[in-house]
Amino acid sequence: MQGFVVNGGRRISGSINVQGSKNSALPILAATLLVKGQSVIHNVPDLSDIKCTLKILRKLGCSIQQEGSTVIIDSTEACGCEIPVELMREMRSSVIFLGALIARHNKAVLCAPGGCEIGLRPIDLHLYAVKRLGVNVEESFGQLICTAPKGLSANKITFSFPSVGATENAVLTSVFAKGKTLIVNAAREPEIIDLCDFLNKCGAKIVGAGESIITVEGVTRLYGTHHSVICDRIAASTYLVAGAVTGGDVELLNTNPVHLNSVLPLLEEAGCDIRIRCRSVRLKAGNRLKRIDKIITQPYPGFPTDAQALFTTLVSVAEGTSVIVENIFESRFKHVPELLRMGAHVRAEGKVAVVDGVSRLYGADVQAQDLRGGAALVLAGLCAQGVTNVTGTEFIDRGYADFENVLCSLNADVYRKVNQNGTKKKPCS
Ligand code: EPZ
Repeated sequence: MQGFVVNGGRRISGSINVQGSKNSALPILAATLLVKGQSVIHNVPDLSDIKCTLKILRKLGCSIQQEGSTVIIDSTEACGCEIPVELMREMRSSVIFLGALIARHNKAVLCAPGGCEIGLRPIDLHLYAVKRLGVNVEESFGQLICTAPKGLSANKITFSFPSVGATENAVLTSVFAKGKTLIVNAAREPEIIDLCDFLNKCGAKIVGAGESIITVEGVTRLYGTHHSVICDRIAASTYLVAGAVTGGDVELLNTNPVHLNSVLPLLEEAGCDIRIRCRSVRLKAGNRLKRIDKIITQPYPGFPTDAQALFTTLVSVAEGTSVIVENIFESRFKHVPELLRMGAHVRAEGKVAVVDGVSRLYGADVQAQDLRGGAALVLAGLCAQGVTNVTGTEFIDRGYADFENVLCSLNADVYRKVNQNGTKKKPCS
């Protein structure tokens, strides 16, 4: 099993451009199925989840070209409407093809998605949304056969929870639905705005993205366009926390500070100095991190659940006791037992974790259990005394492009161990 070998104790400092957003690129790539022609998507991060999405698009009949971080998709000949089980199981965001396929073909055949084991992650809200638009859903041998025999008709969709993925599927399915669809209690994440910006550029008529109520007026077809994916706010948060826990000085050059509105104040509460400009954020860490009274995850614009593990590491080495409440996923503290192996003092019970900060963590062999928890363990290794081996890079590679190289460009001492005999893949300088 591959691992990151982290030699702790170095101050993370320097400036970087942050990758494009995984959670924006994935639905936008799926949305290109609604365009009978060529879409050019820029700033697409090089991630295993992106590779899987492109595999699905090819399987469905799209032709794909890649030039660096630009992906050119021609979906003219895309006639497939069934996603192979092994590809569906590879990641959670494969469920976004539900709305894209129904919009394109009035049919979708897929199974429940895979993805990080951070909770049950049902898709009941996704299915509720498409049914409201006229889709029949039948289950047969573990597969969902979704059809719209009478076509798609606009309707009011009211979510009991502002689910990101279900909002994306509701938007995609309603783009061609006759009439005006109302999506109430919609998710407000920046990735929803980015998806709707792309669709509107293609000719869709979506109003209210980023608000709790989105209206979608059905159109008859979409046209190819160019679009650049927004910066990844969770990757940005990751590199800022890397600076914070190592007493460093990190500048992110292409980041929208507005997307970090609920993260930056907590970094300041921990004693970091934050300087923002319209397209950049700089963090200078204080001498010793201070406790953060409460870290409570909420749907956007609240504190993001995807940054919770990162901040668990941060407060593990802060002075004082901090409290974390994870409201979004029911088992998202899997990084805690691994942090305990490094000398952290964390008591996690249900939704709550109480963290008594320690002055130092110690290098250990630890195992990533999911994407963000894995990143949090690497951050812990950066500030630990000694060497930390983080196995499970396959989780981390799902969301961080070139992780070890980016960290090394910020003065970290990290390399990827590619096999049992310890052969190392030194980051290119
Ligand atoms: C998206 O997942 C992100 N993934 C997640 O990021 C992120 O943590 C999450 O939104 C919340 O912000 C992608 O965009 C690919 P949800 P998604 O539907 O859409 C429950 C990462 O690390 N729910 O908003 O799956 C669900 O169980 C990943 O980049 C239902 O009950 O999240 C969870 O408790 C991890 N029924 C809550 O809602 C449903 O039908 C939030 O889920 C759908 C969701």
